[in-house]
Amino acid sequence: MKKVYIETWGCQMNFHDSERMLGLLKEQGYQEVDDPREADLILFNTCSIREKAEQKFFSQLGRTKHIKKRNPYVKIAVAGCIAQQRGENLKERAPYVDFVIGPQNITRVGEVLEYDGGVFTEDNPRLADIDLPAIRKSPVTAWVNIMYGCNNFCTYCIVPYTRGREQSRPVDSILKEIEELTHEGYKEVTLLGQNVNSYAGEVSFPGLLRLINEIEGLERIRFVTSHPKDLGRELAEAIGDLDKVCEHIHLPLQSGSDRILRLMNRKYTYMDYLEKVRMLREAVPGIAITTDIIAGFPTETEQEHKATIRALKEIQFDGIFAFKFSPRPMTRAAEMDGQLPEPVRAERLKEILSLQDEITEKKNKALEGTIQEVLIEGSNQSDPHKLTGRTRTNKIVNIKIDEQIPAGTLLRVKITEAHRHSLDGVPVSSTD
Ligand code: 5AD
Ligand code: SF4
Repeated sequence: MKKVYIETWGCQMNFHDSERMLGLLKEQGYQEVDDPREADLILFNTCSIREKAEQKFFSQLGRTKHIKKRNPYVKIAVAGCIAQQRGENLKERAPYVDFVIGPQNITRVGEVLEYDGGVFTEDNPRLADIDLPAIRKSPVTAWVNIMYGCNNFCTYCIVPYTRGREQSRPVDSILKEIEELTHEGYKEVTLLGQNVNSYAGEVSFPGLLRLINEIEGLERIRFVTSHPKDLGRELAEAIGDLDKVCEHIHLPLQSGSDRILRLMNRKYTYMDYLEKVRMLREAVPGIAITTDIIAGFPTETEQEHKATIRALKEIQFDGIFAFKFSPRPMTRAAEMDGQLPEPVRAERLKEILSLQDEITEKKNKALEGTIQEVLIEGSNQSDPHKLTGRTRTNKIVNIKIDEQIPAGTLLRVKITEAHRHSLDGVPVSSTD
């Protein structure tokens, strides 16, 4: 048996690409190991969304140089967004790299490894038509691609350059995959796409949700990521109506300033966004809304930053991911005049994060004493006397138990204490 060591950075899409690559490699007789020194193949699945993600990868890559010196037979493959963005150049910078495989070419992972080495970064307009195997980490909750690529060209974002144009998977192959997953015992799927609302298969995205909702044995449906410009009443109503679709949406706002949103090419104003939030909260009582924010976009004034602060106070998100603006190669924002110094971006990020910490904590505290449906994902990693799962609103709950309850169980849980990033709870019997 050949052995592969795989390390992944980045978004859920990337982690799922790794599961698919492992699926393909298994078909070629590979088995996963957790020590790169034991491997015949070291595979890095990389992210280039921000400079920091890139730096982490390069320092890790540097370490493999010594492994290769000791074992010249080991193959080193770099996949993912850095692979696509750097291409041939990556092999020049690190000559010990054998394979460079872009995200649109993971379908070919099994076959390209037959070669001595190479760069595989061509466009693959048929990616969505190929069904790929996957080795999933969780036995309960599964990622399922519904579309690939992105057509939005937000001015800060490298993704349209690394993942290519939008392609939707055909309805039948999505349904078939989810049916198979439920037969294997999976209870929850998370539909993946850079912008799931622009799904354009034989049905619209809300139509797809309606079809998936019919699948017997499936308990929960989640999806990421949504773009505010494409979110309409039909989707809000589908989330509200369909029993399996969870009451959570990740809806990146990026900034509370209209001028900055325009410079980002987001195609909505803050008022448009607020209107969508109202619509969602009306159609789906109790919906959790999370978002992404970029601090210190080029030319952002202190006042425009304050507009973002005001937006966070007004909307009261359940959680956010916030990042300092990071200039990325090929993007328009990287070329803009008015790049802000790092300390200014850092200061603004700090202000955003500390405000949101308070809001998140307050929102979580409001759940104390309530009863939530939790899907058990497994034991808590640091405490075997606790189970871990998520509420329908995607909040992590650690549950104290006396008897073992199998992963995949839906449990009614009383929330006993709220923390910033998780909740504590105890099971309630169905008669409570
Ligand atoms: N700099 C900082 N944050 C970025 N994001 C995307 N590109 C950049 C960048 N160049 C953030 C956005 C996006 C999330 C996935 O990453 O907020 O929604
Ligand atoms: Fe995912 Fe974007 Fe990072 Fe690529 S660059 S791995 S699409 S977050």
